[in-house]
Formats: sequence, structure tokens, C-alpha cells
Amino acid sequence: MSERYMKFFVDTADTAEIANLASTGLVDGVTTNPSLVAKTGKDFLEVVREICGLVDGPVSAEVTATDFPTMLAEGRHLAKIADNVTIKVPLTVDGLRTCKAISDDGIMVNVTLCFSAAQALLAAKAGASFISPFVGRLDDIGIVGTDLIADIIQIYANYDFPTQVLVASVRGPQHVIDAAKLGADVVTVPPGVIRAMYNHPLTDKGLTAFLADWEKTGQTILPTKSSPA
Ligand code: E4P
Repeated sequence: MSERYMKFFVDTADTAEIANLASTGLVDGVTTNPSLVAKTGKDFLEVVREICGLVDGPVSAEVTATDFPTMLAEGRHLAKIADNVTIKVPLTVDGLRTCKAISDDGIMVNVTLCFSAAQALLAAKAGASFISPFVGRLDDIGIVGTDLIADIIQIYANYDFPTQVLVASVRGPQHVIDAAKLGADVVTVPPGVIRAMYNHPLTDKGLTAFLADWEKTGQTILPTKSSPA
């Protein structure tokens, strides 16, 4: 796979959506958070186990404690679920300590709730595998979220930090395009935004016309019982 491969994660804990999207072959991983898990009404550990069986790539599962010892214990407990579990920690001092300790265990860590380049720099120094800057939530308060992505990419490139920039809080296809133009490593996309990316009224209209014209020819591509042998 090319060094320049852009990964697509699905931002949901809805296993039916994940199974459906994974069948397209376009899904490289999954991100969940406590709010997304709460929406499913299911047991957290069970949901993570199920998702890890649906995709081969990283599946982010977030700790919910806020103190270092408990975050570390939760992270290590979640990591036992499957080899592709990525431990998600919030960008707090205790979260960064947890990131360092769990990364040193050889387990992938996704540092979430990142809203500044300074925070992203600390996450990289703490050994994070992924940093999750939230573009949509920054846009919501009048700050251009994608400017933060550009800053983080530049800073990481200056020092060859291996931490991957995972663009989160994506609200529409334009965020995905902006992330791709900037060369972000990963974008995590809600299922509805993925659908919005492939749907286009001109595609539907064009296909309807092509099929109507094809129908008039009376031909089939595959042989039928009445076709000559
Ligand atoms: C990222 O991992 C988060 O789960 C997510 O992108 C948050 O998005 P929101 O701002 O739409 O809640």
C-alpha cells in the first residue's frame, strides 16, 4: 500500500451500519466514543468485541475514567478485547500519561478531543498512534477547524513524528475533501456523510437515462437461455 494511502474510518458504534459499510471494502477502521456507545443502548465491551470482528483495522474504544491509574487500568482491560483495539484517551494531563504508558505497552492509542496544535504536539510526544482534532466542533464556535489540521500536519512533518492525523468531528463531504487536500492520514466519517459522498443527483439522472436507452436495444450483457451458443 502506498505511503500516501488515506484511511477512512467510520465514526459510529452502530454495528449494522459498520457491517454494511465494511462490505464495500472502503472501511479501514472504526472510531467510537461514550456518546456513540450510549446511543446503541448495548453493553460497551460487547459492542467493541463485535466491531472488532467486523473490521480488520483499528477500532477506537474510549476510557471513561479521568484519573491516571484508573484510565490505565481501563485501557489495559479494553486492549484485551482484540488485537485491533485502539485505546482512546482524552487530551488531559492524565490522558497523556495514560497515552505514554499504554503506547509503551505496544498498544495503539488515539488521543481525542484535540482542539489546538499545542495539544497535538504533546500527544505526539506522548507516543500517540493517532491524534484526533475535532474540526466540526471548532467550526461550531467560529474557528476554522481545517486550519488546525494544516498546523498539526506541518508540525509533525517538521520532526517526523509518526503520530497519524485523524480528522474527527466531520460534518460533511467538504471536511473530507479539505482533509484530503491537506494530506491528513485518516478521516473518521459518520455513516450519513459517507452516503452523502457517493450520492449525486446527476449520477442518478444520468444512470436512469443510460438504462432507458439500453432497455430499448433489447440486449443483455450476460448470455440468456435464448442467446445463440
Ligand atoms: C471522534 O473520534 C469522535 O467520535 C467524533 O468525531 C466526534 O464528532 P462530533 O463532534 O460530531 O460528536
